[in-house]
Amino acid sequence: MNKNIQHLIDHYHKEKLPLAALLAAIEDVQGMIGEGDIALVATAFDLPREDVQAFVNKALYLHTELVGKFEIRFCRGTPCAMQDSADILKAVEDFLTIEVGDITADGQFSLEYTNCLGMCDEGPAMMINDRRYGFLTPKRAVRILQEIKEANTHVHP
Ligand code: FES
Repeated sequence: MNKNIQHLIDHYHKEKLPLAALLAAIEDVQGMIGEGDIALVATAFDLPREDVQAFVNKALYLHTELVGKFEIRFCRGTPCAMQDSADILKAVEDFLTIEVGDITADGQFSLEYTNCLGMCDEGPAMMINDRRYGFLTPKRAVRILQEIKEANTHVHP
């Protein structure tokens, strides 16, 4: 058992702090919320485990698996798909040398599908962390990733 997590749970429970804040804190510490964490939280708060799991599943900001520093959510909605988003996804996968559901070896990027990002008129679209990108082409998508990569490998004085 992770002592830090148990400490967090005890603290949030004792102070009667919101469950959502506790789950976000666990995610901050570990980068994800594992099944064991869900069980511990459910026991401490005397909640059905399924309810805690359902909350985690619904909250886009929580993850049950490790994600990259840059979390790419690629839209698989029909309007984007009709604009050749499959070609763009292929370019992204080739550039990162991972497939949907994976994380790069350096932990920098993870790639997953998402449903409509609400920008169909600007599609194909993807989201990287909190930022949305539209009007994607294979070239533009790779350029965006290249820029992020370069910005994160340069050491600024
Ligand atoms: S279907 Fe892709 S943004 Fe709506």
